[in-house]
Amino acid sequence: MVVYSPHKVILFGEHAVVYGYPALSATVDLFAKIYLIPSRSGLQYTPFVQRTLSFLGLNNVYVKVETNVPSGSGLGTSSMIISGILLNEKDYQKEALANEAFRIEYETQGLGSPIDTTTISAGGFVLTNGKVGVPLWKIERNGISWNFSTIPTRNLEMVIVYSGSKGSTREQVAKVKKFYERGSFAKDIMKRIGNITEEGVRAVMKSDVAKIGELMIENHSELKIFGISTDPIEKIVSIGREYGYGSKLTGAGGGGAVIIIPRDKEKLMKKLKELNVIVFDTSTTGAGIFKRSE
Ligand code: MEV
Repeated sequence: MVVYSPHKVILFGEHAVVYGYPALSATVDLFAKIYLIPSRSGLQYTPFVQRTLSFLGLNNVYVKVETNVPSGSGLGTSSMIISGILLNEKDYQKEALANEAFRIEYETQGLGSPIDTTTISAGGFVLTNGKVGVPLWKIERNGISWNFSTIPTRNLEMVIVYSGSKGSTREQVAKVKKFYERGSFAKDIMKRIGNITEEGVRAVMKSDVAKIGELMIENHSELKIFGISTDPIEKIVSIGREYGYGSKLTGAGGGGAVIIIPRDKEKLMKKLKELNVIVFDTSTTGAGIFKRSE
């Protein structure tokens, strides 16, 4: 049995979504293959994997993950692996899988939202706490609720660039939380990000790439205020602005990846090659996680 688990991007609304503001995410056409292979030795795993295996009562198993995407890239690796292990072992319905994977992720990390686990399970464009789309499900934790819907629309071409260093979701979410708890300044930023997301959803529904790009640039500027961008991210984002419709960091930041909506693909790729960074020329996909016998 092999589980195909898709990476995800956040187009608009990361960090704000932790506090219940809207966000728009999507799975992309980059899948990790996840296998559970019987093994005799007691292997050491990350806390996420360890917790998932313990929950399932699995010992002596080797979790093999095949992906070209580096971990810590903000593209959902931990949620993908948790979900991938669960689906290897049991036949989950999408909602049940999203709930279980989020519970494990939240208990391990102690913070965050269910956006990654839900996106990977549902597939396609996923809107959190928005007013449109086809309703999916609702998840609540500590007084915050997240209502999910899918946005049926055309796939979006996207170039994803790894900035060269890992970002820690836990650290970056904790950093932003300090700002959030300090006063109205961070709340105003979150509100603005929420408005950008709502406008972004309308642009995505119309496949208006120029508008999507413009709003991504605005969203990135707001995120930058929290100090979660880095010099390599800024370099990639500025190339993305020049040769794309727009670009921004995606996920928690502090490292990780940048998404670009390409305009002049040839020049964009040439410029990125000069930076010597890992580039994925991809698009969003309607598919969520699935399994297949091999
Ligand atoms: C992580 O992909 C996105 C964040 O908003 C954290 C979360 O929602 O759990 C930064």
